[in-house]
Amino acid sequence: MKDLVESAIQAREHAYAPYSQFRVGAALRAASGRVYVGVNVENAAYPAGICAERTALVSAVAAGERQFEAIAIVTDTPEPSSPCGVCRQMLAEFGVGLKVTLATVHGAAIETTLDALLPRAFGPESLARR
Ligand code: THU
Repeated sequence: MKDLVESAIQAREHAYAPYSQFRVGAALRAASGRVYVGVNVENAAYPAGICAERTALVSAVAAGERQFEAIAIVTDTPEPSSPCGVCRQMLAEFGVGLKVTLATVHGAAIETTLDALLPRAFGPESLARR
């Protein structure tokens, strides 16, 4: 998991966060072994911005990935930061078993899972007809 955190730390350097100054880096490892990074990309029209986690996810899906093992999310806050609800939901589409590392550039880290962050998630199976 250390490699994934390191990838997220490096990616975070490219975060585009001129409005919040809150820079986030993410690194998502697919079952293929490939790692996809993401950063938050803000916009002058504020709601148009996107979080680091979703940037990584859409990049991976665009490359043909559908199965994911782990994600690391890095901020420079004193304590690790937690992904927003929209990112949790987007990630849950591909499985709540995802391992999640919430880390800081200073070395703090919390290991959890998407299932713990989004219990009883609404997912593809929720749409199954009775
Ligand atoms: N942000 C992320 O990229 N990931 C998170 O998990 C939480 C928030 C971004 C969105 C926005 O650009 C900035 O952090 C402040 O909310």
